[in-house]
This record gives sequence, structure tokens and C-alpha cells, in this order.
Amino acid sequence: MTIKRLLVPLLVFTTGLLVLVVTAGLLLFPSQQQSAGKVPIGGPFRLTSHEGRPFTEENLKGRPFVVFFGFTHCPEVCPTTLYDLTQDMAALGPDADRLQAAFITVDPARDTPELMKTYLSSFDPRIVGLSGTEEEIAAAARAYKIYYRKVPTDDGYTMDHSATLFLMDSKGEFYGTSNFQEPEETRRAKLRQLIKNG
Ligand code: NI
Repeated sequence: MTIKRLLVPLLVFTTGLLVLVVTAGLLLFPSQQQSAGKVPIGGPFRLTSHEGRPFTEENLKGRPFVVFFGFTHCPEVCPTTLYDLTQDMAALGPDADRLQAAFITVDPARDTPELMKTYLSSFDPRIVGLSGTEEEIAAAARAYKIYYRKVPTDDGYTMDHSATLFLMDSKGEFYGTSNFQEPEETRRAKLRQLIKNG
């Protein structure tokens, strides 16, 4: 009986103490990530452009940029995203020249620089296609924390992959994300903000 009567106040007290300790902890020791204001997405990569030239993250810095991972055999998401991005860049007008865009393949076995070049000729010419070895692509995907996987089909294979558009600032720091399901106005507002932010 005594124990039962004590149980509720004890529980209330313990919960209160826990909240107090956690709050104090958060106030006194904010995580490194929060205090630095940086999200660990993006970083160094070494790839090959659709013109067959070496291309690293240094080629993108200096202007804000958009990074998207996909593959040329993608039936829907990639062409839709690239089409939308092309329309967005047209809508942005001259401001789009202050933006860079990179389409990184997750299917380097099929997506040679030559094929990337042909494929991208249907989209805004400012979008650079990037390919590389399996290892180079894996390293770039790790830097952006994206997921991709080869999935066998009846006539070969397809690729499962994250469809996030990464918005990066001119220093190569993570700024935000968008994706193909987002309304056009929202996406364009984000791109305008990214360009303004620099
Ligand atoms: Ni795709």
C-alpha cells in the first residue's frame, strides 16, 4: 500500500528530473552540428563530365548549385526531374546563369560520358552530366548520403535511387532539398532563394 502510494509522486518526480537534466544538457552542450550550422551533406568527389573532362566539387563552387543523382535509363523520375529543372531554369531567366546544376549517374556501367552527353542534349545545356568508375560514383553518393541499388528485371536491370534535389550554396555547403513531387512554385521559390543567398 505504501509503495503504491509513493509510486505516482516518485514517477512524477523522476520524469521532472529527467526533463530538467535533458533540457540543461541541451542548453549547455548543443551538438557540434547545431553550433556550426552545417549539415554534413556534400563534399569532395572526383568524376568525369559529359565532355569527358575531370570534374570535382571545386568545379561547382563559386556559384550555388543543384545536385541530382539518377541514370539515363530511368523511366520516369529522372527525366521528369531534369525536365522540371530545365523549365525552372528557363523561368528563372538570367538568374539561372548564377546557378549550376549537376546530374550524377548511379549507373556508370551504362552511363558513359558520351551517353550522358546525348541524353542531356534534351535538357538545359547548363546541366552537367557526371560519370565515373563504380568507386568514384559510390564515393560521391556517400558524400551526399544518397541510396542507390541495382534491381534485376526481365530484360536486364534498373536502378533504385534517391530522387532528392540537393541545393548547395556557393561554398559547397548544404542549403536545402527539393524533389520532383514538390509543386513548381515551391521549387522555384527555393531556387530563387538559393541564388539570392549565394
Ligand atoms: Ni531515376
